[in-house]
Amino acid sequence: MYEQVSHSLLNDILLKLHPQIKQQQIRHFYTRLGANFYTIHSLFKLLYGEREDFVQQAQFLVETLARRYIERSDELKQKDLEREKDHTWFLSQKWVGMALYSDGFAHNLSGLKNKLHYFQELGINMLHIMPMLKCPQGESDGGYAVSDFKQIDPRIGSMADLAELVEELQKREILLTLDVVVNHTSNEHPWAQQARMGDKKYQDYYYLFATREVPDMFEENMPEIFPETAPGNFTWDETMQKWVMTVFNEFQWDLNYNNPAVLIEMLDIILFWANQGADIVRLDAVAFLWKKIGSTCQNEREAHLLLQLLKDCCQVTAPGVLFIAEAIVAPVEIIKYFGEDAINAKECEIAYNATFMALLWDALATKNARLMYQGLKSIPDKLDRATWLNYVRCHDDIGLGFDDRDIATVGYAPYEHRRFLLDYYTGRYEDSDARGYLFGHNPKTGDARISGSLASLAGLEIALELNDADKIEVAIKRILLLHSLILSFGGIPLLYYGDEIGTLNDGCYLEDATKADDSRWMHRPIINWEKAERRHQTGTVEYRLFFSLRKMIAVRKEIQAFSDFNNRRLISSDNPHLFLFSRFDIQQGAGNVLVVVNFDARPQHLDLKALDQHCKSSYRRIRDLYSGDTPALFQNQLVIPPYQFYWLTDAGA
Ligand code: GLC
Repeated sequence: MYEQVSHSLLNDILLKLHPQIKQQQIRHFYTRLGANFYTIHSLFKLLYGEREDFVQQAQFLVETLARRYIERSDELKQKDLEREKDHTWFLSQKWVGMALYSDGFAHNLSGLKNKLHYFQELGINMLHIMPMLKCPQGESDGGYAVSDFKQIDPRIGSMADLAELVEELQKREILLTLDVVVNHTSNEHPWAQQARMGDKKYQDYYYLFATREVPDMFEENMPEIFPETAPGNFTWDETMQKWVMTVFNEFQWDLNYNNPAVLIEMLDIILFWANQGADIVRLDAVAFLWKKIGSTCQNEREAHLLLQLLKDCCQVTAPGVLFIAEAIVAPVEIIKYFGEDAINAKECEIAYNATFMALLWDALATKNARLMYQGLKSIPDKLDRATWLNYVRCHDDIGLGFDDRDIATVGYAPYEHRRFLLDYYTGRYEDSDARGYLFGHNPKTGDARISGSLASLAGLEIALELNDADKIEVAIKRILLLHSLILSFGGIPLLYYGDEIGTLNDGCYLEDATKADDSRWMHRPIINWEKAERRHQTGTVEYRLFFSLRKMIAVRKEIQAFSDFNNRRLISSDNPHLFLFSRFDIQQGAGNVLVVVNFDARPQHLDLKALDQHCKSSYRRIRDLYSGDTPALFQNQLVIPPYQFYWLTDAGA
């Protein structure tokens, strides 16, 4: 959009550009800058307009964008242009992701490169490599305490290893997702070190206070993220004689985005990784970016403005690169990370569907889908050109982040219901085969979350210990059922490494003093490749899981209706154990799919005739796209065995 104030500032900035930038032929850069500058200027002004050095900071911002554009390779620039044309490319059902720690998966980056065939065997074509940047030797919150944003941890590899990996990924058409930890640095980061040594410039990168007054005011409203291991949100630093804001762990210093230099540094870092070949950047802990006294310091409006600004800037330099918002917050808040007041996503194109994840675990424990329906109904439709990352497990704990009102609406008492889920997944509930552990228990509020691997939470660990074939069967069915949902719901399914072969909890972390007090390590496995080899041995658990998932992924990729264009309709039924939705094919107007799952341990039935009013298709002659079979029907009733899922299509008259 043309507007005089921003345009004349842009003219001034361009006049003053560094000669090295000026002499470059960067036509696409200038067109995109022109297109986005009005918004960039408006956002930058809202955030930093009152500063005396506003114009100078705006100049730095534009120069950062230009420098990184000049550095961007021709191949990546070409990809940008292709993605501009095919701008909904990532909404396709063809994408299936996996998140992993490269050291846990294959020792390091070059090990990972040698294992790419494994992903292709399974059908994975998007890899999220979790933090791999330089971090402290000891505690580092699984690499989320970064001590150098532009260097790979030598234990994991080098920039050359990454470049080789990227080349191989590109050949195999596998997308790369990398983390950028935008909210904080490690206390060993040079910025923190300089701040410690009294450098004013770097002290302004953090929230530092000489006395307790301000910290105490903040504490009145800020929840604790790791109440057991890092209570409170501030840490006293002896060297500086100051309190540092440390929302997560004591060694993770929160960055102060009131300072535009911090924003520009982080933008530069995001573009740096985009230029190394990241197709998608996962922005960590985005809900926490802005701190305001009197608030919980989460989901603040300015946090959204910052993300919009980062997006608008990234579109100028590397428009093909997508952002994932890691915002594990209340359902109505999560959706805002796509951007508000826009038609197309203008913050992050992708967001973790933490609500769906938590609802899946609820349905599995309660054996019914009541809260699932209610919880999903409360989530507003997402924007165009935005998609969910649907997952069952990840490297973090499971938070029971549903809305209390939704819990009450379906007839449970919120506190008791959460208590039940915690008991269920820690195996304290009588009828439970789950083996999980509490994480982040806060005795002051009674809140807690759950750690544990998918297989252990789904009952496989206990079943194997008892050598109970029936229980093993049930656990496998549960694992597949959960995956069938993330693969059909709409969005990019993100599998978690090890789940495809039924990896159980691993207690090794208890022997490592730097990990022992963080139970999330029990589900951050070192892959046992002998176990993984058993995926080729018919009848083993590994075989049954891996091959069923591989088939599910292959079938998903063929179902156009599983692409994500807001083409899903929830369908209610009288049977609370069932969860149903239809997916329709917006492009061809045909090929609808009815997804039906039974969360119960007993067979259930569904009156197909009653469905007619909800679905365009008649579902009289049905076929399950996954198995290729016609499911059992009794009169008009579809029979759904325990923990079964169906992807049904109307086989026609
Ligand atoms: C994100 C990460 C989590 C980490 C936290 C702080 O939520 O997923 O593992 O502890 O950020 O960096």
